[in-house]
Amino acid sequence: MFERDFSGFSGQIGYALVPMVARGVMLGADQPVILHMLDIPPAAEALNGVKMELVDAAFPLLKGVVATTDVIEACTGVSIAVMVGGFPRKEGMERKDVMSKNVSIYKSQASALEKHAAANCKVLVVANPANTNALILKEFAPSIPERNITCLTRLDHNRALGQISERLNVQVSDVKNAIIWGNHSSSQYPDVNHATVAGKPVKQLINDDAWLSGEFIATVQQRGAAIIKARKLSSALSAASSACDHIRDWVLGTPEGTWVSMGVYSDGSYNVPAGLIYSFPVTCRNGEWTIVQGKSGLSIDEFSRKKLDATAEELSEEKALAYSCLS
Ligand code: LMR
Repeated sequence: MFERDFSGFSGQIGYALVPMVARGVMLGADQPVILHMLDIPPAAEALNGVKMELVDAAFPLLKGVVATTDVIEACTGVSIAVMVGGFPRKEGMERKDVMSKNVSIYKSQASALEKHAAANCKVLVVANPANTNALILKEFAPSIPERNITCLTRLDHNRALGQISERLNVQVSDVKNAIIWGNHSSSQYPDVNHATVAGKPVKQLINDDAWLSGEFIATVQQRGAAIIKARKLSSALSAASSACDHIRDWVLGTPEGTWVSMGVYSDGSYNVPAGLIYSFPVTCRNGEWTIVQGKSGLSIDEFSRKKLDATAEELSEEKALAYSCLS
């Protein structure tokens, strides 16, 4: 049986996510779950309301619900932790603006997870700045293996698939192997050089380099901000659904011949500086992710190289800023 720590769970993403998990969208239709939901004391009543709704929905897979404002109770025994809690970005703010508030939250949650979560707990950081929050969590939870700490760029990956499917008027399920490189921010590089639709290269099907290297990239990079502008709130249902995709593929494996994007601890692959949490193309098997390597055919042209480096540069700056906020 799996247990989860969902912090900030009375919020928008948490509210969208818990019914998906309780229905088996994250771990499969035969996997019972116990949900641990954490929120801050002012949200305790709202969090209890979410618990009441979970009871009322009578999900057959849901074997228990812990709704708490106590971080130790939330983290105790969890084998998958989805970190959705954090200070939210509002219209007009950049992720960096929420950095100082969020890195201190992640530092304290790191130690609770390290001490109380199940051995081999897998962590997915959703709250922004997601890559850097994950890095802070990793640094302050040194006994959690670095392979177990990841951040969400599957949302951006899915956005890239969605834009290609809209442009070509094809089923999104036929679009495969886009890549998000780098930061979950407007410096990310959505790359379709290796993407296919029903096996055919996207670059052949969309014979419009200006769109592929211009509007397409900008649309995916700016999609989070566009949603905030439209909803006056951050993305929630797409973030929750993508978080389910991230964990499901990590735990249950990626389909043969396809990869997905995950923010993972860089080992220097693709000349990305080691020691950043950076989004790479990965395949997953037996609960472990592996970065798709260059020898499998992922050539990086000059245009891409610059983009990979620019987003790495931003992450290095965020890392320095995060540390200055903590000192
Ligand atoms: C998103 O990408 O939708 C979220 O990360 C919201 C944001 O701050 O951009």
